[in-house]
Amino acid sequence: GDAPKPPAQNWSFGGIFGTFDRAAAQRGYQVYKEVCASCHGVYQLSYRNLAAIGFNEDEVKGIAAQATVRDGPNDEGEMFERPGRPSDKFVRPFANEKAARAANNGAYPPDLSLMTKARPDGANYVHGLLTGYAPPPAGVAMGEGMNYNKYFPGHQIAMAQPLNDNQVTYSDGTPANIDQMAKDVTTFLAWAAEPELEQRKRTGIKVILFLLVLTGLLFAAKRKVWAGLH
Ligand code: HEM
Repeated sequence: GDAPKPPAQNWSFGGIFGTFDRAAAQRGYQVYKEVCASCHGVYQLSYRNLAAIGFNEDEVKGIAAQATVRDGPNDEGEMFERPGRPSDKFVRPFANEKAARAANNGAYPPDLSLMTKARPDGANYVHGLLTGYAPPPAGVAMGEGMNYNKYFPGHQIAMAQPLNDNQVTYSDGTPANIDQMAKDVTTFLAWAAEPELEQRKRTGIKVILFLLVLTGLLFAAKRKVWAGLH
């Protein structure tokens, strides 16, 4: 049968006043970097974008400098490698799709830039996917190299369970259990997919306040115009 609905989580960025929990998004970047980045790119992001989730200038420079960026050609017509700069796009794990599939048993680890928007109920889905690995129920025949997952459509996914307890060590002391890491990396990916979310919500609130005031003015004007006409 089809996959069940993933359980709804209480996201900091949900609702009309929602904002991205900066500490969660930063921990989520760490999970992405230390776990997911060996297979998945986040094609839309540049290192400097990380300032928006609260990394300071030196931290952004440091994060960028850890990356090895292919650049060129130089004056000799050669490609070369150099440390990353804040203006560089996130380095991708594979040169192209063919190399990605070759390293993943034929399956393709997709770009995660828009994943929380590309899938229905995307944030809950990504969290569900990361926490939804289980032994296959009796009688379910698994394809070779496939992993059972409660929330993946069809239940057979080529990605092995990427998160295990204490896979990362958080510097703020947050316990790194699977659920916590899944929430944090989903918050990071939700921000990556929709960095303008907070601005959009602020604008929406202003529009609603404006419309409320306008309604009041029009109502008062209408009463005045029609006053005395019974
Ligand atoms: C697919 C997230 C780590 C390999 C996916 C999908 C998501 C995802 C959202 C798409 C599922 C769909 O199509 O609906 C993540 C996150 C990770 C992570 C957040 C880190 C916490 C990894 C790692 C590997 C990997 C480390 C490789 C060792 C793959 C592959 C697929 C995939 C091969 C395609 C699966 C298929 O279509 O059957 N991942 N992933 N992922 N991931 Fe990951």
